[in-house]
Amino acid sequence: MWLKYMENKSKQDGIIIFDTTLRDGEQCPGASLNIEEKLLIARQLARLGVNVIEAGFAFASPGDFAAVQKIAQTVGTEDGPVICSLARAIREDIKAAAEALKPAVHGRIHTFISTSDIHLQYQLKKSRSEVLAIAEEMVTYAKSFMDDVEFSPMDAVRTEPEYLYQVLERAISAGAKTINIPDTVGYTTPSEFGNLIRGIKENVPNIDQAVISVHGHNDLGMAVANFLEAVKNGARQLECTINGIGERAGNAALEELVMALHVRRQYFNPYLGRAADSEEPLTDIDTRQIYKTSRLVSNLTGMLVQPNKAVVGANAFAHESGIHQDGVLKNKLTYEIMDAQLIGLTDNQIVLGKHSGRNAFRTRLKELGFEMSDTELNKAFLKFKDLADKKKEISDWDLEAIANDEIQSGEEIFRLELVQVSSGDHACPTATVTLRTPDGEELTDAAIGTGPVDAVYKAINRVVNVPNQLIEFSVQSVTAGIDAIGEVTIRLRYEERVFSGHAANTDIIVASAQAYVNALNRLYTVLHTQKKELTSRQA
Ligand code: KIV
Ligand code: ZN
Repeated sequence: MWLKYMENKSKQDGIIIFDTTLRDGEQCPGASLNIEEKLLIARQLARLGVNVIEAGFAFASPGDFAAVQKIAQTVGTEDGPVICSLARAIREDIKAAAEALKPAVHGRIHTFISTSDIHLQYQLKKSRSEVLAIAEEMVTYAKSFMDDVEFSPMDAVRTEPEYLYQVLERAISAGAKTINIPDTVGYTTPSEFGNLIRGIKENVPNIDQAVISVHGHNDLGMAVANFLEAVKNGARQLECTINGIGERAGNAALEELVMALHVRRQYFNPYLGRAADSEEPLTDIDTRQIYKTSRLVSNLTGMLVQPNKAVVGANAFAHESGIHQDGVLKNKLTYEIMDAQLIGLTDNQIVLGKHSGRNAFRTRLKELGFEMSDTELNKAFLKFKDLADKKKEISDWDLEAIANDEIQSGEEIFRLELVQVSSGDHACPTATVTLRTPDGEELTDAAIGTGPVDAVYKAINRVVNVPNQLIEFSVQSVTAGIDAIGEVTIRLRYEERVFSGHAANTDIIVASAQAYVNALNRLYTVLHTQKKELTSRQA
């Protein structure tokens, strides 16, 4: 992958895909991931074929540092993607990024500073010339650690162009190999953004020494369109996230960009100096991994994909109207511009059954990208056997649901030991739950509710006793059929923060209880860490 990336870079006729799901994507409320979840996503991103993974913001917290370091160690191999850490244009940040990236064979420091007048005046309280000097000095400092340095002038879209050109020229002469143009507030339109990129190409004297990258938010729903216009005007790196998750309205969605460049490659080819009819892919992405990656990110972050979402939404390939169905049956191309197979939507083979042993189970999970400890594997295998008793044929998606479930319930603080409900049209929904507390004590409580899930959540609340508000609850089935696994995703709010929880089970009441306990465990971990930090500061 690295070789292909270098080829793209030097030929400038391919598009570099820079994934920031684990950095900008993780910045959206409730999407926070633990280190194992980040690693799982990073491995899948490598399988998807992204060229650069922005693994986090190493200086932000010890947890972020550890995640960047672990991803650098495990995924940043010789033929793996470039692993990148974000760093403000501040020495301590850059140093932390460099330290965390040490284990990566191909590491990149991405340093940034705001350049728009509004940010300079109100946020940085610095003059243009001060920021110009800082940008140059900090790129030089980052270069003292590694060769691959990216520089972003934050809020570039609202920066006065002449000043932006100067900042970029200085950053490139200090050694930045990629200069990234962020639409930080999601304000620009496609033609304006295209013009900005063309202006940079024409007015920054040393621009041929750097790759032009774009980064953009989706506040007005134009991020993907803006990027595609940027490509036509010279951008060769796209910073994007899976399912478009990210700060506020999110970032440009990777799957939409990649599929637009794939399906419409004949339109884009000439802008990249290729023959219009060239079939050569424009990116290194293995499109068959797209659907799987989307599901993984959605499950682990708790950020649901809207059904009508382009490319990966549940309805993206469904034809409801009679006229469309009739056309598709006669010839798929009448109403379909891409095949579901192309994004891996149909790769749901039946792989295992009741008689499959631990070895077959372990091997298939490995092939699907799950590296589990023996304890995790043993627990997952029990769940698999249980499922195989209820459901004869187990597919890859079932296996993924089991494995994700195991990995997510890894950080058990409260452990769900028992859930029992009674409900019906003439009964008052009642639930009994038993939880094992962090001290190892087993506590049982019961509650009534408006429905069985409400009763279960009230009973759990009586044990855990952390006031919170449930803001989202969703159930989806993993595969078709009455015996399918149900996946429950929930989001809850505690004070200003949002926490998500996800769980899978053939019994959706059990999945609901487990998803809630998983979210509460995340909440509890944060509260516990805050308390520890406060005590150590007071001591
Ligand atoms: O949106 C933004 O400007 C960013 C930068 C740090 C690149 O995320
Ligand atoms: Zn951003």
